[in-house]
Amino acid sequence: MELGMKNRVAIVAASSKGLGKATALGLAMEGVKLTICSREKEALERTAEEIRSQTGADVLAVACDVSKTDQIKTVVKETINEYSKVDILINNAGGPPVGAFLDFTLQDWQKAIELNLFSAITFSSEVIPYMKENKWGRIINITSYAVKQPVEGLLLSNTVRAGIIGLAKTLSNEFAPYNILVNNICPGRIFTDRITFLAYERAKKEGKSFDEVISAMGSDVPVGRIGKPEELANLAVFLASERASYITGTTIQVDGGLTKGLM
Ligand SMILES: NC(=O)c1ccc[n+]([C@@H]2O[C@H](COP(=O)([O-])OP(=O)(O)OC[C@H]3O[C@@H](n4cnc5c(N)ncnc54)[C@H](OP(=O)(O)O)[C@@H]3O)[C@@H](O)[C@H]2O)c1
Repeated sequence: MELGMKNRVAIVAASSKGLGKATALGLAMEGVKLTICSREKEALERTAEEIRSQTGADVLAVACDVSKTDQIKTVVKETINEYSKVDILINNAGGPPVGAFLDFTLQDWQKAIELNLFSAITFSSEVIPYMKENKWGRIINITSYAVKQPVEGLLLSNTVRAGIIGLAKTLSNEFAPYNILVNNICPGRIFTDRITFLAYERAKKEGKSFDEVISAMGSDVPVGRIGKPEELANLAVFLASERASYITGTTIQVDGGLTKGLM
């Protein structure tokens, strides 16, 4: 299938590694010009170079903490200076800490809101005016299967990410007349540093080895394994493409069947 993405411009948030990096690489393979961002400049530059050498794509790397509004504004400004437009926004961030309700202070809540909700609000409000002008846009939020089925120990994620779904559905209605399509992707268990971190936390809590936990995390999933980052990226790239022209306001899990609900 020809995805029709050559010369599109994408910002991929939180993309030096993991799901963001896999999505950036997938877009670059389709001829998309990229801005990638994350906090640690050296790791980000290494990723940019890796994507350029694998795909020949233009990659602008801008160091940014997505929980800081002024830094997000800089990412969008530098993207416009470099490419004069932005067609695709992939909202993504790090994951919030693990814990139960009484473990968290109000400041922890504030940080999780800034990282996993306000970052998407800010990025969206910065890019939509450019998309509206060009009557073309794709916004894809990488969230979690927690928005469909709360995950034990991930209270901050279970709560804050639900707001993204409300945001996306509302934006999808408001901006559909401008051909700006907004969708959510919910990873289940995909092999990245985040899963390694969660597996270590669970191993500590349950007095098991890391390998035992990883193997249990895979065998819980109906397809019998943890997913690969590119398996999520494939959906993100499709949703960002010309071919996804009638899909908006949806929330789709990439979880090997892990989510147990009907919808
Ligand atoms: N992997 C899964 O199975 C899974 C499942 C459900 C939900 N999720 C969610 O999906 C998102 C991506 O997960 P992942 O597995 O790709 O994680 P990951 O492998 O740990 O990668 C996280 C990326 O985000 C960047 N990042 C973290 N905090 C940031 C910040 N404040 N500002 C800018 N960049 C930041 C990191 O770079 P720097 O540290 O240098 O900033 C890194 O590039 C997370 O929100 C995670 O909770 C993942």
